[in-house]
Amino acid sequence: MKAGTMIGDSDMLTVHDITTYERDGLLVLPGLFDAAEIGALRASFDRDARIPGAHRIAEPHSDEVRAVYASHQRQPEYEALIRSSRLLRPAQQLLGPDVYLYQMKINSKPGFGGDGWSWHQDFPAWQMADSVAAPDLINAVVFLDEVTEYNGPIIFAPGSHLTRKSSFTRSADHRSEQHLDPDDIALTAAEMAECVDEHGLVSPKGAAGTVVFFHPELVHGSATNMSPNSRRVAIVTYNRTDNLPRPDGEPRAEYLVGRDTRPLSVLDDLRIVATA
Ligand code: SIN
Ligand code: MN
Repeated sequence: MKAGTMIGDSDMLTVHDITTYERDGLLVLPGLFDAAEIGALRASFDRDARIPGAHRIAEPHSDEVRAVYASHQRQPEYEALIRSSRLLRPAQQLLGPDVYLYQMKINSKPGFGGDGWSWHQDFPAWQMADSVAAPDLINAVVFLDEVTEYNGPIIFAPGSHLTRKSSFTRSADHRSEQHLDPDDIALTAAEMAECVDEHGLVSPKGAAGTVVFFHPELVHGSATNMSPNSRRVAIVTYNRTDNLPRPDGEPRAEYLVGRDTRPLSVLDDLRIVATA
C-alpha cells in the first residue's frame, strides 16, 4: 500500500487525493495490488484471452488480442477485482455510495506492435452510444505489467476534464462497431493541439499493481508498443446507479455495458487468489 494514502485499513482516499483527482482528473496510487495478486490476474487473463467471442477484440494487423471485455463474467479473479475495496471504496468516495459496474476490459497491447489508442474522451462516446446522462463515472486502471515510457503508457491531458467538451461524428469507414474504438471517436488535430497547449500531457508509469483512477471526460490516448514487453491494463469503470444508460433502441451488448445495476458491495480486504 502507498504510505500515507490510506486511512487505517479501510482503503479510503485522503483529502489530498480527492483534491488531486478533482483538479487533474486523475490520481495515481502505486502498490495497490501485490505480486501474488497480479500473478493471479495475469494467469486469469491468459485463460480468458483464449475464449472466442465478440468480447475478444483482435489487433488490426494480427490475430493477437487487443482487448478483452467483461472478464469478470467468466473469471473469478476479475469478479473479485471489481468488488475489491481498493477499487470500490475510492470510487464510492468520488462518485457516491451507490455505484455499479458499467464496463470492464483488459487492453493488452502486446510487445512489438500492440497498436495505440487515438486521443479521445470516454464520456462523449458513452453518451452517444448508451445515452448516459451525466459524467458520473470513474475508470480504475490496474497495471498488470510494469508500465514504462517504452511499452505504450496511457497519456493524459491533466485538467482537460474541466475544459473539453468534444463532439464527434463517426466516419463512414469506422473501425469498430459496438465497442467504439477510439479511432472512431478521436479529437481532431486542432482540438488536441489546443488541449495540449492548455493542459500539457502526463503519462503515469509504474510497477504492476499500480492503479490510476481517471475521470470519464479526461482527454487520453496512447502510442504503439514498440518494446518487447506487453502492457496489459485492466480498466474497471463504475457508474452511479442514478445515472443508468437510457438507450432509445437496443442497448449495446452486455459484455460492453453492464446490465446488473444493483449497487456493488465491497468484499472486505479480499486477497485475489488464483483459481487455476
Ligand atoms: C489504452 O489502453 O492505452 C487506452 C485506454 C483507454 O482508452 O481507456
Ligand atoms: Mn478511453
